[in-house]
This record gives sequence, structure tokens and C-alpha cells, in this order.
Amino acid sequence: MNIAEYLERKRIDVDRFLDLVAPPSITPPTTLHDSMRYSLLAGGKRIRPILTIAVAEAIGLTTPGLMPVACSLEFIHTYSLIHDDLPSMDNDDFRRGKPTNHKVYGEAMAILAGDALLTMAFDIISRPDLMKGCDPVRQVRLVQELAYGSGNLGMVGGQVFDIQAENQDIDLGTLQTIHKHKTGMLIRAAVRMGAIAAGATDRQLDDMTGYAEDIGLAFQIADDVLNVTGTREELGKNPNTDAERGKKTYPTFHGVEGAKKLADDCVARAINRLSSFGPPADPLREIARYITSRKN
Ligand code: IPE
Ligand code: IPE
Ligand code: MG
Ligand code: MG
Repeated sequence: MNIAEYLERKRIDVDRFLDLVAPPSITPPTTLHDSMRYSLLAGGKRIRPILTIAVAEAIGLTTPGLMPVACSLEFIHTYSLIHDDLPSMDNDDFRRGKPTNHKVYGEAMAILAGDALLTMAFDIISRPDLMKGCDPVRQVRLVQELAYGSGNLGMVGGQVFDIQAENQDIDLGTLQTIHKHKTGMLIRAAVRMGAIAAGATDRQLDDMTGYAEDIGLAFQIADDVLNVTGTREELGKNPNTDAERGKKTYPTFHGVEGAKKLADDCVARAINRLSSFGPPADPLREIARYITSRKN
């Protein structure tokens, strides 16, 4: 299969849905809605919603409401990027090829746009019109996965570990915990939500969870590597910011080549976790490989 073509096709579907559900800029409060749309529709690989869809397709029973379920993750992810870039956090000026949200709308509006995107994620996953036909018990499980992966024991917790580690002499175990939470937990939620939406068995959900944890770590190691090796044009964000902010990363501990090797090991483990799934899981195998070969 051609993974580039697959990702492009799914990205277009996701973008179309995001544009449809994002509040129109002409609806008051117009500045808030402008600011939300600015970051949400700025591009982005859409890897989390694509994972949800690809997992559901691998299990084979797609369900009503899969697209809103998948896109709820992109609302959370975009909010996390807006807040991650704030001066009090990573203080970054450039994201998804454009000035960061607070550079355009100011800090207060950027915080509020993030808050509203976070809240809207839970709106779209529970709206009766969008989720019509979804089993209500399953829907509550999906909402809980989204909350858990995003919150204090998930992505937000990881962001806390990350900022507390700045300029500290952390060990590799601590770095792994940071990565598994700040990036890994939302990817884990994306995969598990695809599995739950498709009515996975417990065994299938376990296998998919293992896959998710391995690609989640690989994804953030690759992000660390690209921060050293990428250019602003390729990344759509500024490179070398980790070193500038005193963040220890996988390349700090292992060098660029060592870090790439560790990410490849995670990918190999992830693919092994899919051994009980047949050809419908091929996109997931290819997405795992793409995570370490990507240029942005
Ligand atoms: C960047 O995420 C931040 C991390 C959690 C590593 P992505 O690399 O998925 O960014 P976009 O969505 O494509 O912009
Ligand atoms: C971002 O991690 C993680 C979240 C936004 C939750 P980084 O701070 O390492 O990612 P980039 O490099 O800014 O995209
Ligand atoms: Mg950060
Ligand atoms: Mg950052």
C-alpha cells in the first residue's frame, strides 16, 4: 500500500469535517472563533484522528459517529499546541507554518481559544446530531478515554513533568515518563477510541493499546530528533528550541543516531503487537513506519 496516498486521503476527510464543525468566524464571539479556526485549520498532519479511523477499519466494524470521535482528538491536540507555545510554557513563535496563536491574538485570547477547543472536543463527541446511532454505553466509554488521555494523568500531566524538568539533571527514565505522558497518552487515547468505537474484544483492545504505547514513544523521540535535524521550512516550527530552553531529549542522551535507533526499535515492537490482525491493519503498520521516517 501507498501510505503517503492513504494519509493524504484521510487528512482531506478530517480537514473537511473540522471545517464543518468549527464555529464560523462570523458567529460571536468572533475573535474567539477566528482564533480557534486559525490554529485548528492551519494544517497539521491529523495523525491522531487518522489513527482512530485506521484502528476502527482494522477491526472492521465501523460505527456511527466515527468521524466526530476521531476529530475530537484534533480539538484537544490543537488546544494543547496553543497552550504549549505560550510564553509561560515553551514560548514558541511559529507553529504549523504560521505565527503562533498568541503572537496573532494575544495571550489572553490564545488561552481562551485553547480552553474553548478543549471544551468543544467533548461537545462534538456527545452531540446527538453527530453521534446519532452510536450505542450510549460505548459513547460514555469513548468520552472517558478522551478525558483520561487528555487530563492530569495523561497529556496535561506529561506537560507538567516536562516543564518541571527544564534545566534539571533528569535521568532517562524520567524523560521516558515525560514522553509517554505528554505525547503518548493522547495517541493511546486515539488508538483505544478507534478500537472501542469498532467494538473491539478485550484482547484486541490490549493489542491495540500496546501498539499505541510503542508508537507514542516513537512519535515523541522522532519529534526530539527533528528538533535537532529539521529546518523551519520542513517543520513549520522553529528547530533547536529544546536545547535553547534547557530541555533534555533523546538526542541529548543518545545522540541523533542513537535516538533514531531507539525510535525504530519502538516501531518494530509496535508492528509485532499487530500480529493477530490481518491485511486490514496494514495502514497501522505503515503509519508506525511513517512516524520515524517523517520530515515534519
Ligand atoms: C506536535 O504534534 C507536538 C507533539 C505532541 C509531538 P504533531 O507533530 O502531530 O503536530 P501537527 O498536528 O502535525 O502540527
Ligand atoms: C508537545 O511537546 C506536547 C504537547 C503539546 C502536549 P513539545 O513541546 O516537545 O512539541 P513541539 O516540538 O512544541 O511541537
Ligand atoms: Mg512542550
Ligand atoms: Mg513545544
